[in-house]
Amino acid sequence: MHVHKYERWWMMFGIVMLLVFLSILGVAAIADDMNPPSGMQQIDPTKVAQTPPFDKPGLHRNADGSYDAYYVAHVFAFDPATVTVPAGSKVNFYVTAPDVVHGFFITHTDVNMMAIPGWVNAQSHTFRSPGTYLLICHEYCGIGHQNMFAKIEVR
Ligand code: CUA
Repeated sequence: MHVHKYERWWMMFGIVMLLVFLSILGVAAIADDMNPPSGMQQIDPTKVAQTPPFDKPGLHRNADGSYDAYYVAHVFAFDPATVTVPAGSKVNFYVTAPDVVHGFFITHTDVNMMAIPGWVNAQSHTFRSPGTYLLICHEYCGIGHQNMFAKIEVR
């Protein structure tokens, strides 16, 4: 096949533009990895046990009657293991991890987060019905993954 000199030039131009386009996509993908969803706060994953409020994980009652629940997800448990709130309570969940990525999923709710070393993730839920809600790790994190769960008791 005979390719005219100028056609070859255009083919080269096309390939170069394609490479430029792909490299922009690649840079964007890397930048996405480095910027979790807005609203997430950073935390030093090596100092979770010394960083308030995660130095004392657990439930804190707010003046308006809602609760803040601070969780540390680690191999292979959640701290706190159980919290108890009255039915109708709005709970603001905050979670971080000192070791590896864990899941944070509460059954019968739309709370579905990742616990990521270096970041604090947050989501709220109002528990209208009494019962025991399971908080489970739904992100494979190692040999004890399937035993990693906690409970939220709504009375
Ligand atoms: Cu933690 Cu799976």
